[in-house]
Amino acid sequence: MSATSRNPWWRGSVVYQIYPRSFAEGPPVSGAIADGVGDLRGIREHLDHVEWLGVDAIWLSPVFTSPMADFGYDVADYCDVDPVFGTLADLDDLVAACHARELKVLLDWVPNHTSTAHPWFVESRSSRTNAKADWYVWCDEPPNNWKASFPRGDDAWQWDEVRGQYYLRSFAVEQADLDWNNPDVEAAMLDTLRFWLDRGVDGFRMDVIHMIGKDLHQQDPDGAVARAWSHVPYNDVEVTHERLRRIRAVLDEYPGDRVAVGEVYLLDETAVARYYGDGDELHLNFNFSFLWAPASATELRARIRRTLDVLEPLGACPTWVLSNHDVPRHRGRHGGDERVARMMALMLLTLPGTPFLYQGEELGMIDADIPDDRVVDPGRRDGCRSPIPWTGDELHGWYAPTWLPFGVEAPGRNVDALRGDPGSILQLYHDVLHLRRRADDLVDGSFELVELEPADAVLAYRRGERWWVVLNLGDEPVALPETVEVAVATVPGMVGARIDAVPARTAVIASR
Ligand code: GLC
Repeated sequence: MSATSRNPWWRGSVVYQIYPRSFAEGPPVSGAIADGVGDLRGIREHLDHVEWLGVDAIWLSPVFTSPMADFGYDVADYCDVDPVFGTLADLDDLVAACHARELKVLLDWVPNHTSTAHPWFVESRSSRTNAKADWYVWCDEPPNNWKASFPRGDDAWQWDEVRGQYYLRSFAVEQADLDWNNPDVEAAMLDTLRFWLDRGVDGFRMDVIHMIGKDLHQQDPDGAVARAWSHVPYNDVEVTHERLRRIRAVLDEYPGDRVAVGEVYLLDETAVARYYGDGDELHLNFNFSFLWAPASATELRARIRRTLDVLEPLGACPTWVLSNHDVPRHRGRHGGDERVARMMALMLLTLPGTPFLYQGEELGMIDADIPDDRVVDPGRRDGCRSPIPWTGDELHGWYAPTWLPFGVEAPGRNVDALRGDPGSILQLYHDVLHLRRRADDLVDGSFELVELEPADAVLAYRRGERWWVVLNLGDEPVALPETVEVAVATVPGMVGARIDAVPARTAVIASR
């Protein structure tokens, strides 16, 4: 079943995150000099890869006008494209090209803060009486002890010489928090959604969306610890839900199941569940408790069970994610062993709900070692953002030396090399994604966790009547309760075999 024939399409679709700076570079247009930074034309030229892989939608990290203090998460114009990525027309072309391939497109909406270069902030800081004076969170004395994320642990209250007051900046100095208590701010931000919905995008990933409501009177319970992203009471307040219902209403004005995916960075499944509302807030929310699970059968089972226990009664659709542009890639987090990365991928793509992939995980990429003099990110997340190597030659399919270095594995671990290797991790992602399209039960079928022995080494579940998914993370073979036929395995040579045990360090999708 393709994503477009499912209703709503985002339930059980697979979303592929593109970090545009590091995905692909289009050939330089006449007279221009290549800069080694990925762009919109580069994405368009590499849609074959995305389509071949078998995902249903792409999410683009921000491509809006930005001074790039946080590489696009500091937006200076929500309704235009930064020249480094191309033009508005390039984005329209990309959306059309994706739609022609039945790929949906999500943009990244950054509602908590703007760049300090945004005209709204420039005006707001200019005096205490201008028309936008109260669009940001200004004060004479900080009302709390909050800390910023960049650099981690700095005060979140930034003194501004121009206005002679402090402003709140939960992230970098260049990212000023908007004051969502001001109805004009909300109205302006809702208009930015309409701008893109009118142009035909299918939805948004919403950056740190739980932060649009704040209780300034609460202290950070940990005092000195910077936890702007994680579960703190002052970022999980009632008023946010009213705002989310109004955000949702804007998406509902449009035909075609537009989707809102919340980056709700609360590391607690029950807390995150509230952001689905009564089916009237966010359609989907990231599940970071799952992302941060160790590769332990016991922990994974517990977090999957907790997630489903809280979401199923709400009729809410779970999401699953292992990697993104903010965290070390999952292969590295789990010790670097590609066998583990393969098992985790097979699980990611067979759990009930909507999985999110991060560009490059299909190559089994691991974070690049970035020398100190090449670090550019204020949060030092450069390693997971190293560019995609498309080919084995020196520039790896780019037109100039890239803004961040490639990982050391790039000469052998690149799209060209892995496409030609039937035993590669890339082929594994492809095979699971294509199996999902043929086997509806792997997407929509019932889900039942099954405890096989030894329970601390094996994660096993059934999908629908037919399917078994078994991850054997241990060092001994694991006996199955019945003989099954392997449809996909994380090691070569098993497809089609009838087995009654799963070898050590291997995962399979198999049918009865
Ligand atoms: C989100 C983004 C991250 C960014 C931060 C501030 O967590 O994923 O990249 O730095 O918000 O916008």
